[in-house]
Amino acid sequence: MSAPLLETKGLKKYFDTSLGPLHAVDDVSLAINAGETLGVVGESGCGKSTLGRLILRLLEPTAGEVVFDGQNILSYDRRKMKEMRKQMQIIFQDPFSSLNPRMTVSEIIAEPIKVTSALPTQDAILERVFELMGIVGLAERFVNTYPHELDGGRRQRIGVARALALNPRFIVCDEPVSALDVSIQAQILNLMMDLQEEMGLTYMFITHDLSVVKHISNNIAVMYLGQCVELAKTDELFENPVHPYTQGLLGAIPVPSLSARKHFNIMKGEVTSPINPHPGCRFAQRCPEATPRCAEPGLELKEISPGHFVSCYSHI
Ligand SMILES: Nc1ncnc2c1ncn2[C@@H]1O[C@H](COP(=O)(O)OP(=O)(O)OP(=O)(O)O)[C@@H](O)[C@H]1O
Ligand SMILES: [Mg+2]
Repeated sequence: MSAPLLETKGLKKYFDTSLGPLHAVDDVSLAINAGETLGVVGESGCGKSTLGRLILRLLEPTAGEVVFDGQNILSYDRRKMKEMRKQMQIIFQDPFSSLNPRMTVSEIIAEPIKVTSALPTQDAILERVFELMGIVGLAERFVNTYPHELDGGRRQRIGVARALALNPRFIVCDEPVSALDVSIQAQILNLMMDLQEEMGLTYMFITHDLSVVKHISNNIAVMYLGQCVELAKTDELFENPVHPYTQGLLGAIPVPSLSARKHFNIMKGEVTSPINPHPGCRFAQRCPEATPRCAEPGLELKEISPGHFVSCYSHI
């Protein structure tokens, strides 16, 4: 069994707001084995992007640890962290807003190489840019074009090439295909899986759409209002979802045949506020199975079968 490359331990991020502390990420402990993918799913605002940014230290956590290759990187100084960032990259959802519109494809892909002085000459940099374009399936003729001249799929290939420029080991993929047409989504997902196999990459793949992570993830973490409420191997999560929220998410996936749909309750209502959340289960107000006990504090993720963790009073 491979060892975790990335772990979070009790990771928290509370944002100060005029109404009180907003619990964006609240005590999240996860591990991702080297060469594997952890899918992180949940509705808008549940803290997925904040979790990704905390892991890369683009945001400083309120509490907890981020352990990369056995070392708590939160103790690193700026110089050490700059070195570490080469190994940890991020791909964003919307290549249109995350890529500088005034830079050409070549300039965008070359930027991380230049910033870190990773290659000595302009020729070596351009050679590497062409190599990366080949790796991600971007034709060389696009080298001097601007992002707005390309379609969404090609733009996201630029994002992938840029993330690969410094030979990272770990990539946070923050909704990288959510803005793309379904047919293009499959192309980018296939590309990312091929790259993972060839380069031994480790991914944290963030999405609000469970069906997107089904084929790419070894494990899936389901988040609700800043907390991980269920964590399991992908097949196990799809075949035996235990948390009512996970069941709700699965019930919301469109399936071609009505008879093929498992009869899970479709969720009702809105996500409650992450500001000063009450101490019990945060899903209780929307949960079809809620009981008075769900208001009690002290709910934790518990292992209900090997590798399958759930935080729900009905199952502990
Ligand atoms: N800088 C900030 N200041 C205050 N609140 C913030 C800040 N960044 C995020 N939040 C809040 O933290 C919570 C989690 O946000 P986050 O962007 O991590 O969610 P998400 O799961 O990525 O959502 P989406 O699916 O819409 O991308 C939200 O309630 C958001 O409003
Ligand atoms: Mg997000």
